[in-house]
Amino acid sequence: MVKILLVDDQQSILQAYKEFLEENNFLVITADTPRKALSLLDKETLPIIIITDIKFPAADMDGFELIRKVKKEYPLHEIIIISGHATMEFVIEAIRLDASDFIPKPCEMNLLLLAINRADNKIQMRQIIKEYTESLEHNVQERTDEIKRMEAQLIQAAKLSAMGELSASVCHELRQPLCGIMGFSDLIGKKLSEDNSTKSYLEKLNKQCERMEELIENLRTFSRQADTSFEPMSIGESIEDALSLFDQQLKNHHIKITKEIPQGLPLILGNKTKLQQVFVNLICNARDAVNSLTNQKEKHILIHCQKKDQDTVLISITDNGVGIKRNLQARVFDSFFSTKSVKKGTGLGLSIARTIIDDLKGQIDFVSTPGEGTSFTVELPILELLGQKIQRADFSSEKVVAEKPLLPRREITPGLSL
Ligand SMILES: Nc1ncnc2c1ncn2[C@@H]1O[C@H](COP(=O)(O)OP(=O)(O)OP(=O)(O)O)[C@@H](O)[C@H]1O
Ligand SMILES: [Mg+2]
Repeated sequence: MVKILLVDDQQSILQAYKEFLEENNFLVITADTPRKALSLLDKETLPIIIITDIKFPAADMDGFELIRKVKKEYPLHEIIIISGHATMEFVIEAIRLDASDFIPKPCEMNLLLLAINRADNKIQMRQIIKEYTESLEHNVQERTDEIKRMEAQLIQAAKLSAMGELSASVCHELRQPLCGIMGFSDLIGKKLSEDNSTKSYLEKLNKQCERMEELIENLRTFSRQADTSFEPMSIGESIEDALSLFDQQLKNHHIKITKEIPQGLPLILGNKTKLQQVFVNLICNARDAVNSLTNQKEKHILIHCQKKDQDTVLISITDNGVGIKRNLQARVFDSFFSTKSVKKGTGLGLSIARTIIDDLKGQIDFVSTPGEGTSFTVELPILELLGQKIQRADFSSEKVVAEKPLLPRREITPGLSL
């Protein structure tokens, strides 16, 4: 309902207009001085129409002053002037102050209704324009953010592609001399007797060569030159394979490992070597994180798999290690980002993992609380063959947690609360 504030120093006029306007379904409030009228307004008041006289001989403010103050402080209200002094000078001043209408007294009531209608239209139009502008600003902001995101992705993609090409050729160049070094080192080893003390140097040399080979392999995967054929495969087996590489090491470091890998998980379409590479890196990272603990708490890694929904299997690798500092969390998937010593980390593990998981149309993500631990999750689409999901009953060497409820995503077991 349109609200009107009537301002006039003559009670009889106020009364007459009020009755007339209320009969025409307007909500009316009145004030007999401009000052009182101002006291009825505040910033929260929805736009209203103020109908005012100009001359208030007994008051400290006239109608023009009221208009000036209203326009300055509450610019959304509309003002109609009704005055017995309809001189040219007054009309010009009313226009200058942006009054909506000027009606001479005695007022023709139909004219008043027309003026109210016009003022109300102005208020409505202003509201529509305001909402439109707001939504336009919102849309522009959204689009700008999206463009910025896409630009960042493009820059990253261009960097990666340049780096990929470079690393592919560097890998090729490095591999050959490395093979030579390894071959000759083998030959020397064979020529040396078992008790020759030089053998220990050769072993060190071989270890460094193996490290280089691993690095080259990482770079090759990074540049996507490696084998990318996919086949139906079991997530459980892939995790078990990855874990088997760590068996002794985890024991030596007194790291407790809990596996929650239920039987009968659906197969996924993947590449064994590559998925193993993902899990090896995630386990390596978890191992390094718990090994970096300086307190006495038990080191713990939990590996959990579950069918998340009709289309997805979810794997989480959660550790109660040092966690990732909040200001570094956005960078962990960046190529060559590492907080480890040069000997220990190349900073390619997670960026390679993401490339592999992207290729499999999956997702990799993490939550981490510094000082409490980190949980990486990998989601992979379930393989659909001829419209039917292939189930495999028994692939896990360890039958685990049959009666234990599966953890939903990002929920951590009591011993591993993040
Ligand atoms: N589970 C984790 N807990 C704490 N920090 C982690 C964890 N996983 C990853 N990070 C952080 O993310 C960084 C990047 O990990 P990423 O696996 O890509 O490289 P890296 O482990 O340093 O080297 P590498 O190439 O040998 O894997 C790590 O250096 C570490 O700071
Ligand atoms: Mg790593």
